[in-house]
Amino acid sequence: GRVVVLFGGLSAEREVSLKSGAAVLAALQGAGVDVQGYDMAHGLAGLEALRPDRVFIAMHGRGGEDGTLQGALELLGIPYTGSGVLASALGMDKLRTKKLWDIEGLPTPRSCRLAADTDWQSVLETLGTPVVVKPVHEGSTLGIHVVEDAQALQDAWTDASRFDAVVMAERFIKGPEYTVSVLDGEVLPAIRIEADSGFYDYDAKYIANTTRYLLPCGLSAAREAELAEISLKAFNVLGCEGWGRVDVMEDADGAFWLLEVNTSPGMTDHSLVPQSAAHVGLDFATLVLRILDTTLA
Ligand code: DAL
Ligand code: MG
Repeated sequence: GRVVVLFGGLSAEREVSLKSGAAVLAALQGAGVDVQGYDMAHGLAGLEALRPDRVFIAMHGRGGEDGTLQGALELLGIPYTGSGVLASALGMDKLRTKKLWDIEGLPTPRSCRLAADTDWQSVLETLGTPVVVKPVHEGSTLGIHVVEDAQALQDAWTDASRFDAVVMAERFIKGPEYTVSVLDGEVLPAIRIEADSGFYDYDAKYIANTTRYLLPCGLSAAREAELAEISLKAFNVLGCEGWGRVDVMEDADGAFWLLEVNTSPGMTDHSLVPQSAAHVGLDFATLVLRILDTTLA
């Protein structure tokens, strides 16, 4: 049957999604699948008119990764890749994700919500410095700042508020950062990320060619197994399905700290899940077909 690859949309990660979508579409075309692409910026009715048998979601952020698209597809009766409505919505909400992980005893850095009437100094004292300020529902490090003092914290809140009505502060763990991909219930090898600037931000993710991706990640087998175990638990606690990617920091004492789950991770030529898959012999096209197969589960 006909497959439609969904990309674009109107989120702040639109540009990333255009790249993910183009790569996925080309891979499926190359594999001889009856497929076409659709930019969700053109609306749901246009998708419906294509009468897809199933869709591959190559969208990031709001309106694609946050449960709203998933809900619409449920109502239309169109099978889709990745997590369902609830897990997608939870995964897009970093604060509620962390609350669930806390309840389950999974390690995640202390955090709180920021607002106009926040006592900035007391946030720094409670969380410990530095802290990282994030829009709660964004991806790709958009609107993120690492700060040490009350004025910088307030300024960071002001900037992050451009992206999201809900902004959080979290104790900053310097890293190294690891990312763990999940495919169809299995964990792929972890990647260790070393950004030249020391911070894996939007530039380091999509623009700079100086970011180093270490694979194998350099952890001992026992430590990598520990990382894989908490990552898979973190994925399952939220009820995620199909595929995704869990981002984790390691502190100077070797403790792991879960940051977030991406329920529709990047599939660009700089992206992490494809690198991890390649390391176990899954080329990009095979990976895309495996993800597409999870729509039938
Ligand atoms: N949010 C980006 C696309 C990622 O996690 O890969
Ligand atoms: Mg993310």
